[in-house]
Amino acid sequence: MAKLNFGGVTENVVTREEFPLSKAQEVLKDETVAVIGYGVQGPGQAMNQRDNGINVIVGQRKNSKSWDKAVKDGFIPGESLFEIEEALQRGTIICYLLSDAAQIKLWPTVKKHLTKGKALYFSHGFGITFSEQTGIVPPKDVDVFLVAPKGSGTSLRRMFLQGRGLNSSYAIYQDATGKAFERVIALGIAVGSGYLFETDFKKEVYSDLTGERGTLMGAIQGIFAAQYEVLREKGHSPSEAFNETVEELTQSLMPLVAENGMDWMYANCSTTAQRGALDWWKRFRDVTRPVFNELYESVAAGKESQRSIDSNSQPDYREKLEAELKDLRESELWQAGKTVRSLRPENQKEAAPVASHQSKTAELLKKLVENTEA
Ligand SMILES: NC(=O)c1ccc[n+]([C@@H]2O[C@H](COP(=O)([O-])OP(=O)(O)OC[C@H]3O[C@@H](n4cnc5c(N)ncnc54)[C@H](OP(=O)(O)O)[C@@H]3O)[C@@H](O)[C@H]2O)c1
Repeated sequence: MAKLNFGGVTENVVTREEFPLSKAQEVLKDETVAVIGYGVQGPGQAMNQRDNGINVIVGQRKNSKSWDKAVKDGFIPGESLFEIEEALQRGTIICYLLSDAAQIKLWPTVKKHLTKGKALYFSHGFGITFSEQTGIVPPKDVDVFLVAPKGSGTSLRRMFLQGRGLNSSYAIYQDATGKAFERVIALGIAVGSGYLFETDFKKEVYSDLTGERGTLMGAIQGIFAAQYEVLREKGHSPSEAFNETVEELTQSLMPLVAENGMDWMYANCSTTAQRGALDWWKRFRDVTRPVFNELYESVAAGKESQRSIDSNSQPDYREKLEAELKDLRESELWQAGKTVRSLRPENQKEAAPVASHQSKTAELLKKLVENTEA
């Protein structure tokens, strides 16, 4: 296992060079990997494994869009696509990729089929870490581990098709067979990971819940909204407020951060921008730090997991979610964003004739002005 230095701290990382696909194929040659659930992660992980020569089957409830999608993706009913219970019975490694709420509901059925020597695989530490809330307690004579790709199942598949790998974390919770390490790493390579970082179930889920509530999704929307509101209250137009809050960040600055880090992005901005950013970032850190602390404590106390279980298991969960997303979508900030996005050069390419191009632009500008005045 490679030991890499991350900012002065040494961590264990498994690379494809030291654990090549041929080794993964050898480790998994007598296994039947049953991917249970064909939502977002299921398709990416199942197709990548299939294309990597692993004996993979899909378990998915029938009469659903996900079943139809699996068929469209080439899984054959009765051969490589089964109802969940039949796949559970056939699989020697169970990749439990239902939504976190469905994992709780289906657990009694899964447990029944976890016979000695099988392996239970997750892509999230949620079910095991919060076992008092989820009721997910595996039998002692099966391996339990996780591979959590650091991105969507769609990106996992896309990057695999481009010959690249998505980084994943891995963790072993229970090694009943003595082969948990080689099994989990083989699966990590087979699902299309580039590098595999070592973690444990609790750290995986604590960091994941904090990250998505924090800078990845929750905090970023909060900061966008705060800055946008201030700019609007001070008399700036929606387009100006949106451009200075979101558009420039996503289109110009974040790609630079992704490429070479924050210092490099700062180095490639004007001296005025550099001075301001260097003067202000610590203020924002200090003001938000107590909120991040509170967030982490809420995750660690099991409050976030309980809230997620309670709300996601409601029968009208999807309708309520849609109503909340509609509020975001219809907010002035994101409506302004819609118009700004439509003005990007790449979204205007089809309008070849100059006259119609100009009239389309004029129409969009008119819409923007109308939004501004509304
Ligand atoms: N989303 C990601 O990219 C991502 C990234 C990293 C890790 N993960 C983890 O991967 C796991 C799977 O996540 P996901 O986002 O792929 O889940 P998802 O898209 O929400 O999965 C939905 C799957 O669960 C099935 N399902 C839902 N309710 C069910 C029920 N009551 N009975 C039977 N099946 C039911 C769905 O079938 P129907 O279509 O028939 O409803 C579908 O197959 C989770 O542990 C998640 O935390 C996800």
